Amino acid sequence: MVNDSMVNAYHIPAMLAETIEGLNIQPDGVYVDVTFGGGGHSRAIMKDLHDGGQLFSFDQDADALSNAIDDPRWTFVHSNFRYLRNWMDYYGIEEIDGLLADLGVSFHHFDCPERGFSFRFSAPLDMRMNQTAKRTAADIVNSYSEEDLAQIFYLYGELKNGRAIAKNICRARTQKAIERTEDLVAASRIPAEMSKELARLFQALRIEVNDEMGALREMLVAARDLLKPGGRIAILTYHSLEDRLVKNFLRSGNLEGTIEKDFYGNNLSPFTLIEKGREASQEEVARNPRSRSAKLRVAEKK
Ligand SMILES: C[S@@+](CC[C@H](N)C(=O)[O-])C[C@H]1O[C@@H](n2cnc3c(N)ncnc32)[C@H](O)[C@@H]1O
Repeated sequence: MVNDSMVNAYHIPAMLAETIEGLNIQPDGVYVDVTFGGGGHSRAIMKDLHDGGQLFSFDQDADALSNAIDDPRWTFVHSNFRYLRNWMDYYGIEEIDGLLADLGVSFHHFDCPERGFSFRFSAPLDMRMNQTAKRTAADIVNSYSEEDLAQIFYLYGELKNGRAIAKNICRARTQKAIERTEDLVAASRIPAEMSKELARLFQALRIEVNDEMGALREMLVAARDLLKPGGRIAILTYHSLEDRLVKNFLRSGNLEGTIEKDFYGNNLSPFTLIEKGREASQEEVARNPRSRSAKLRVAEKK
């Protein structure tokens, strides 16, 4: 069993109080935290639950289980959250009172050199959150076409020079396979001092390796269908593409972001918006700089 300081070393949860407030926890309700990580958010949810409450926490990374919560009301689901619906069916849960998603990776991923998520360490170019998944970041940079790599860098990394970086990588890989983090840094020809660009390059690959956008789309639809009227969904996003998807989904209730209206012009979205992209306070950012890019969106099912 872990103590609080060990959990902090694994991850510091962003906007903890704001997220819990947004969930408006019903003490005997059924809750899902689809991104357990260090368990900071899950533990806070547990504090507000009575004996009749239940929390299911998902994580696709087996490492997260080292933060397990010893409580009969808590269930760990070692799975990708894209299978939310199947798992709720498996546990006989027809509807839920609330769901939290704190997207992306944990500090543990960035700070664990051998996982290959960070350009700060020399390591195999891996980046899989699910360590049993087949495809690594090295597989992608060595096999995708220049066009596909350019698109990923532009879309997921917002790298304006994504095309040039893709070209450099494709040229470098004809000489030698790109197998390690430092190989990718060298192949990209992004100067070492341009750490923001390198971070964006690594972020783009991570999103592709883990199909983060695909999993998010599937989870959002399942969450919409599982939430009971009055139930809340709270989502913390960390980059503009996922934030736009979540924002449009919560406004419209569909992945296309199409807002349907009735004869009188009333919005037919299944959600009422509660938080529309709240950011971490200056104090929190000073304490935890990694919370700088977090945006909290909360909606209630009508
Ligand atoms: C930002 S961390 C969550 C931190 C957590 N809120 C806390 O308080 O410690 C995101 C976690 O979600 C997991 N994760 C990301 N995408 C996932 C997915 N599609 N399915 C399951 N787990 C996922 C990652 O492995 C990581 O542990």
